[in-house]
Amino acid sequence: MHYFEYRDGQLHCEGIPLRKIADEIGTPVYIYSERTLQRHVRVFDEAFQSVPHLICYAVKANSNINILRRFADWGTGFDIVSGGELFRVLRAGAAADKVIFAGVGKTAQEIRYALDAGILFFNVESPPELELINRIAGDNNGHARVSIRANPDVDPHTHPYISTGMQKHKFGVSLSDAKELYRSARQLPNIDVVGVQCHIGSQITQLAPFEQALASLREFILELKRDGVPLKYLDFGGGLGISYTTEEPPSPAAYGAAVAATTKDLGLTIVLEPVRVIVGNAGILLARVLLKKNQGTKKFVVIDAGMNDLIRPALYGSHHQLWPARAQSEKETVDVVGPVCESADFIAKERDVAVLEPGELLAVMSAGAYGFSLASNYNSRPRAAEVLVSGETYQLIRKRETYEDLIRLEENIH
Ligand code: LLP
Repeated sequence: MHYFEYRDGQLHCEGIPLRKIADEIGTPVYIYSERTLQRHVRVFDEAFQSVPHLICYAVKANSNINILRRFADWGTGFDIVSGGELFRVLRAGAAADKVIFAGVGKTAQEIRYALDAGILFFNVESPPELELINRIAGDNNGHARVSIRANPDVDPHTHPYISTGMQKHKFGVSLSDAKELYRSARQLPNIDVVGVQCHIGSQITQLAPFEQALASLREFILELKRDGVPLKYLDFGGGLGISYTTEEPPSPAAYGAAVAATTKDLGLTIVLEPVRVIVGNAGILLARVLLKKNQGTKKFVVIDAGMNDLIRPALYGSHHQLWPARAQSEKETVDVVGPVCESADFIAKERDVAVLEPGELLAVMSAGAYGFSLASNYNSRPRAAEVLVSGETYQLIRKRETYEDLIRLEENIH
């Protein structure tokens, strides 16, 4: 569900025609719908109303500080994976005691920064990391709250690059090793064990892998409780998929019901780290057609957004619907490509797309998650602008980069 729709033949985001934004801000431009974001947070929150819970928006998919500020205002916490993300959420006005810190390779500096800020807990992914956190917390005679990330060895049936909960992945600690790690964690003087964490992958479109993981976690938590481990939180990560094309992922309500059914009697606060389901369909990438060219039997539409702006098709073979800004029904089969010097620089291949002429606008749908945050300056292309639409108004929330921006950190170095 989102608020991008045609009115009088023009694609709008809420009350604003996309053409207006393109004319005033230029292209390529990421455009987000505030109403969609707020609705998604509310729906997700309602899905967990039967259990004590905390939603921690995973910053990695869309870390624009103006977006983070909205989520902080709406009361969510944040799931971070770096010092940079901690800096962003603190600047955005986040309550530090609703911030959790994940990742397999946290540096000493990042751990100190998070301890000083007073985050809720670290998600620990290995024995050496636990030792390091203990030592750094001990330097100030402090205590670090930790959850251990359990790897339940469950196949999430998603793209291999975004599967994380199987033994072959670098993430988490197998359930048998995790038990041992909880034991040693309790011996460490500067560690307070507070929870169990698990995240099996992203863009998961079936309930079964979640249910499988939940069943294992439940047994695991009951064992820990029998051993007297004082748990307060079960952090079940993110992962709920969205519909990019024909996928039919479980609704947040069905997902929430599955989590609640397995965990309700455990007496824990359920922490969730969703993001794609919140921002994915709340944002688009708007591009302009530069030209069309034919190569033998192939037809190419070259647009002004490339793989540096949206890398998901090149990296994951992902499908993004392409909607013309001006409604029209005539279609042709084309490859939609960008200007970057790589054959991987495509947005769609052999796709039936509305017939567009140079200068016309094309919306790459469902680009709100892992779109701008994965953008780069490859080919020395300034990164796109970002706009947030709220009803009948819009706000520029990130300026388009300039050529000067491209070289700013390289100049005057002797
Ligand atoms: N928590 C942890 C520990 C994660 O690793 C992730 C995503 C999330 C939460 C949020 O998951 P979500 O709700 O979005 O499924 N760049 C890829 C996706 C990478 C996912 C990384 N981890 C893409 O564009 O599809």
